[in-house]
Amino acid sequence: MQSHTLQHRIPLAVALLITLAYPLAAHANSELASDKGCYNCHGASAHAKAPSFERLARQLSKYQGDLAAEDKYVTKFLTGEIFNHIDAHEQLTPESAKALIHWLIEGGK
Ligand code: HEC
Repeated sequence: MQSHTLQHRIPLAVALLITLAYPLAAHANSELASDKGCYNCHGASAHAKAPSFERLARQLSKYQGDLAAEDKYVTKFLTGEIFNHIDAHEQLTPESAKALIHWLIEGGK
């Protein structure tokens, strides 16, 4: 009886995992960042013109779990309000910007 119940639970657990994992997979990753040329300036090299993503991720981790603050930050980032305007930032679609910022907030790995 018990194993019968378990057999029904396994597909459910798998379905739940897929549901949870899929939106994450649809979000940004280092490939998107690489595609968008982010590493040209944000690479780990000491000669990079911009802070490394590792450092940014540490700074941005304060937004974890605060979607309102995250949205606000994405808007500022996209409009160049935070600092001097950077084309590579402002040319992103809102979707890409949101995905990349979320990715950084979650650690940028
Ligand atoms: C042409 C160089 C360049 C490229 C390409 C670039 N950035 Fe930047 N980015 C910078 C510089 C420079 C800063 C730091 C500005 C400052 O601190 O005044 C910065 C800052 C940032 C910040 C921090 C903003 C803050 O809170 O101070 C984020 C987040 C960021 N970049 C994300 C990205 C992403 C994502 C990409 C890829 C789409 C990208 N950048 C591509 C130059 C670049």
